[in-house]
Amino acid sequence: MSDSRIIVALDFSSERQALDLVVMLDPALCRVKVGKELFTAAGPQLIAKLMALGFEVFLDLKFHDIPSTVANACKVAAGMGVWMMNVHALGGRRMLSAAREAVPAGSAKLIAVTLLTSMERSDLSDIGLEQDPKEVVARLAWLARDCGLDGVVCSALEAQSLRKTMGAGFCLVTPGIRPANAALNEQKRVTTPREAIENGADYLVIGRPITQAEDPISMLRRLNDETRGIGHKTGTRK
Ligand code: C5P
Repeated sequence: MSDSRIIVALDFSSERQALDLVVMLDPALCRVKVGKELFTAAGPQLIAKLMALGFEVFLDLKFHDIPSTVANACKVAAGMGVWMMNVHALGGRRMLSAAREAVPAGSAKLIAVTLLTSMERSDLSDIGLEQDPKEVVARLAWLARDCGLDGVVCSALEAQSLRKTMGAGFCLVTPGIRPANAALNEQKRVTTPREAIENGADYLVIGRPITQAEDPISMLRRLNDETRGIGHKTGTRK
């Protein structure tokens, strides 16, 4: 099991591309994330192959459906042996609780997506939510914790206030990370790995800075070096 905070996002459209990349990585230095694109292309067989190579897998399928359907999907994912999976907090209390029951605490980590960072105030208004996105994020994080989930996905900028309000034991997983001087791609609000951890992040989801690097393993080593030994500024340390 890796003590790295880095989760490499395998945002590829085929198993071949994903495996070509992971053979250049080291399971002692990272975990990997499989999202909707790659899972749709390559399915559970790829998850098994990644695990056979020694990688712990975050299955990022963001389940959102009626409670029993989500619970059953979570149970299957846990049965595959994934390390972490996620659901949409907007699915509500009964859905979150059903997911937690299907994946008991202490087995696979079960986290929630609060609001997608692509949702702006006007998008919320379109669906009848007139609150500030920050308030919605805080409310959904509370709901996720109240339902026994292990944590949430959030931006490194949201991490700061969530770490303060949710306390030390709640897992914060943050994408939108760029090493200093790296290409932003289409990410707009980014933080460096160090800033994200100081803000309270436990795990950093990093895709293209590693997957598109000329030398992915060197970049991974550099990012691990940058993030080792840093604590959350709120005083907690993992
Ligand atoms: O390549 P990059 O580091 O931008 O990849 C980030 C990963 O995190 C992608 O898999 C992306 O889907 C995911 N993500 C994100 N922003 C969010 C939520 C998830 O970039 N708000």
